[in-house]
Amino acid sequence: MTTHEPTSGGSSTRFDPWYDHYADRTAGLSASEVRALFAVASRPEVVSLAGGMPYVSALPSELVTGALDRVMRDHGPQALQYGSGQGTPELRERALEIMALEGIRGSVDDVVITTGSQQALDLVTKLFINPGDVILAEAPSYVGAIGVFRSYQAEIAHVLMDDDGLIPQALRDAITRLKADGKTIKFLYTIPTFHNPAGVTLSWERRLEILEICRANDILVLEDNPYGLLYFDSPPPNALRSIEEDGVIYLGTFSKTLAPGFRVGWALAPHAIREKLILANESATLCPSAFSQFAISEYLASADWKGQIDTFRGVYRGRRDAMLSALSEHLPEMSWTVPNGGFYVWLTLPSPLDSKEMLPRAVKELVAYTPGTAFYSDGGGRQKIRLSFCYPNEETIRTGIRRLTSVINEELELLDTFSSTGQMEVVRPNAHVTSPPPNIN
Ligand SMILES: Cc1ncc(COP(=O)(O)O)c(C=O)c1O
Repeated sequence: MTTHEPTSGGSSTRFDPWYDHYADRTAGLSASEVRALFAVASRPEVVSLAGGMPYVSALPSELVTGALDRVMRDHGPQALQYGSGQGTPELRERALEIMALEGIRGSVDDVVITTGSQQALDLVTKLFINPGDVILAEAPSYVGAIGVFRSYQAEIAHVLMDDDGLIPQALRDAITRLKADGKTIKFLYTIPTFHNPAGVTLSWERRLEILEICRANDILVLEDNPYGLLYFDSPPPNALRSIEEDGVIYLGTFSKTLAPGFRVGWALAPHAIREKLILANESATLCPSAFSQFAISEYLASADWKGQIDTFRGVYRGRRDAMLSALSEHLPEMSWTVPNGGFYVWLTLPSPLDSKEMLPRAVKELVAYTPGTAFYSDGGGRQKIRLSFCYPNEETIRTGIRRLTSVINEELELLDTFSSTGQMEVVRPNAHVTSPPPNIN
């Protein structure tokens, strides 16, 4: 909003006569930087390393059309009807099978199907957050979660990470500080595996330690795990929910292992919470899409879905390798994380380069990325860039990194000119080509 021009009388604006009618909570609603980028980055001549769109073209369309045909043939009236607010029993069973791959055991009664895991994030936040309550989240954190938390007027307290994920001592310190300030901490939101945007994975030892800390401080854990099955080298450690049942709400989704267009995800909640979650789900959407649920159940029953996940892994592994080798070739002085799965590399720029300020120049040079500031609620991340390797092919990724390199070099030259006049100091990060930097913050 750039204009707040009063019309005659009240404080409404020329463009929005309802300006002064909105609820306070809408103050936290703003277009994310990722969203603002979509319009520009979708121009065909721009190489977009910005969005996190899965490469759905790697899914043979006949697998989907076959499933859709059978849904209409065998379950048409049911699939086109309203359904249960908790989701179909068949799909909830399937969700349990999928979670078992990451060591999770649970009851079908405690699975709630949602409209993507994004909606589960919204529902959990609605259930637990009063304005001013604190949510602990990694620094950086998923932009879509930050948006939800803001919309419920939560205070987001970022906790430092390094290449092994969330730092337990940083979590302890944050809890102590927040409690001393009289704050109410409601939950820890974490993406322990193939983090968005940082690309790192929480080690097994830290998983145990972090759960211990949360247990000791009566803090619920919200584990968001869209990428866990998309590993490239070795499987990641088992989910947090596999260790702790009563204190962890686990979120899963079909968006990355099948397709986001179905808009189907799920929550596995502690038994005590699940009833409230179902009620919240019903009040938000009445029920998740029966049609999508039937289609996914049919797909899982008839297709080699594990083989399909292997196919996705192979595609993304090749794209990750292309990105890492292009970074090594063109930007050897920079540092970045090396993901073992998921969609993202997290790049550190030399100080004082500013990823947000550099973006318009990058788009002019026909490459787009997401500036690090999108992933912090406190203005952090100016020296960071999220690079997505999920959507563009390997050749396009190499082109994108070459373009990005010339943008960075031009900015550095400009700054060098200023620094030689004594006005600015350029600090280049140490080279970390094949291993992640010690601290991604
Ligand atoms: C960490 C994280 N959580 C949740 C989501 C939302 O996914 P869904 O399509 O299941 O709503 C995404 C999507 O990119 C994500 O990266």
